[in-house]
Amino acid sequence: MLIHENYSLKELNTFHIDASAHYFVEVASLEDIQEILSDKKKSAAKKLILGGGSNLLFTKNVEGIVIKNNLKGISLVKEDKDYYYVKAGAGEVWHQLVMHCINNNYAGLENLSLIPGNVGASPMQNIGAYGTEIKDSFYELEAFHLNTKTVTTFNNADCKFGYRESVFKQELKNQFIITSVTFRLNKIPDFNISYGAVEAELEEMGINQLSIQAISKAVCNIRNSKLPNPAEIGNAGSFFKNPEIPQTLFLRLKNEFPTIVGYKLENGNIKLAAGWLIEQCGWKGKRVGDAGVHTLQALVLVNYANAKGNEIFDLSEKIMSSVKEKFGVELEREVNII
Ligand code: FAD
Ligand code: EPU
Repeated sequence: MLIHENYSLKELNTFHIDASAHYFVEVASLEDIQEILSDKKKSAAKKLILGGGSNLLFTKNVEGIVIKNNLKGISLVKEDKDYYYVKAGAGEVWHQLVMHCINNNYAGLENLSLIPGNVGASPMQNIGAYGTEIKDSFYELEAFHLNTKTVTTFNNADCKFGYRESVFKQELKNQFIITSVTFRLNKIPDFNISYGAVEAELEEMGINQLSIQAISKAVCNIRNSKLPNPAEIGNAGSFFKNPEIPQTLFLRLKNEFPTIVGYKLENGNIKLAAGWLIEQCGWKGKRVGDAGVHTLQALVLVNYANAKGNEIFDLSEKIMSSVKEKFGVELEREVNII
């Protein structure tokens, strides 16, 4: 295992921010992780676990050690009457796992097609899109504790999944390196086309016989039509979460702003489309130096070329202030600020 010093992270984050790591190492096995942590100096250093770098904003260089998780492998570990249990190494690319499942007719991940990043990060924020979240197919994960150096298994309830949330972003933040995730996938698909855009795209595609392959294709088409490709423009997907507000506040806002976009949640609250709020404040397509707000999706902040992490962060502060001022609603960042 090669330990690099002052290593550039520019190609390893989808915002393409030019930050560096004091130490950088790639791990391909549990033994590699143990070896790194047996080194007193490295073990004491602050650690940042890196996957595909698609949900991070570097605002400074990383003082400690960046550990890039490259643990590979996808296998069918169990099967019963209704389900397949598929285990994937944390370093597998998420979309490749989704494609593997679709090609084998393991149903459940198709709505999550084309989300960037790796399997190991998927439970961190309970990735979600087009009516599905990983918590709907998640079975268990294995994670290595950075201090006790032991492996723990977490089941669905242990992860405390919420909207773009898990225990690993809260009370267990920075304590574990997730090494594998196992999904419980349906033998008989339970198609989810509840998200309006998916139904519309399937119709546009002329699909009259639903399949997980068709849903995946529809989701990929929608994503490609409005989300910027990080290989072309730096970004980390939605920069903010969609805020949840009480219905009473929603009705007051609806009175003043009749076209406001919100969806009713099971708990009675309303989830607002943050993209709409940001667009209404005039930010869509705005550019400040090389930092900007995407022209097609106001929830996505972009780096056109050489923006610094702090410039993107400052832009996010301005957006949060103007949304607060106009609508009285607090936005919360989804992207992990480093
Ligand atoms: P990274 O960015 O490398 O890491 C994210 C966080 O997880 C960091 O805090 C990191 O320290 C931690 N981490 C990573 N791996 C591990 C591990 N093995 N163990 C412990 N901690 C770890 N997200 C959605 O939910 N839905 C979407 O629809 C969506 N669309 C996107 C579209 C675009 C164009 C982009 C660029 C991003 C999008 N995202 C979306 C965000 C992103 O793809 C997900 O959050 C993804 O899971 C991040 O994976 P990653 O491997 O890149 O994680
Ligand atoms: N909208 C606008 N203007 C915009 C963008 C959106 O008015 O510039 C309004 C429109 O009314 C639109 C609605 O917002 O119909 C919803 O937009 P979209 O379908 O694009 O979804 P989103 O709420 O902006 C969320 C997730 C995405 C996920 C999609 C699809 C969050 C923070 N974001 O975006 O996740 O892919 O739904 O499910 O929940 C991510 O997390 O990085 C991400 C991209």
